[in-house]
Amino acid sequence: MKVINLVINGKSTTSIVGDRMTLADYLRDEQGLTGTRLGCEQGVCGACTVIVRKRPVRACLYLAVQADGQEIETIEGLAPNATELSPIQDAFRQGHAVQCGFCTSGMLLTAKALLDENPNPDEDTIRDWMHGNICRCVGYQQIIEAVQLAAEQNATETP
Ligand code: FES
Ligand code: FES
Repeated sequence: MKVINLVINGKSTTSIVGDRMTLADYLRDEQGLTGTRLGCEQGVCGACTVIVRKRPVRACLYLAVQADGQEIETIEGLAPNATELSPIQDAFRQGHAVQCGFCTSGMLLTAKALLDENPNPDEDTIRDWMHGNICRCVGYQQIIEAVQLAAEQNATETP
């Protein structure tokens, strides 16, 4: 067991976790943040993606103890409030890039990390970042186009 201190969606928290607990299990079971999905649990599907120190990580392969001292962003922290969507969420809505929604948290967080790092990515860069997230419903094209739309809207809104 180990004491960890971390910041989740802007809020500081301290927990005692087992040495082998994954970050995904910690977020879901200890923090109640069940928007972090578990699909394959072996690092393949990307459904469990969260942002750690500005980078997308597979929470099913990342230990909670590794998160000690880190800033974590999950899907629950993406929207500015309960009635508004974040720009990337709104672009997915506009672009019909969501169907069952199982993959969507991971898709959105990967896309957010990309756009935070590179607000104006070209299509190859978007495909390169998003290729590790699997969707079994929506054609990937809508997802790529939604990320492009979010980037365009960013560019329009940036003075
Ligand atoms: Fe983590 Fe699939 S559940 S990559
Ligand atoms: Fe269903 Fe992607 S929307 S898996």
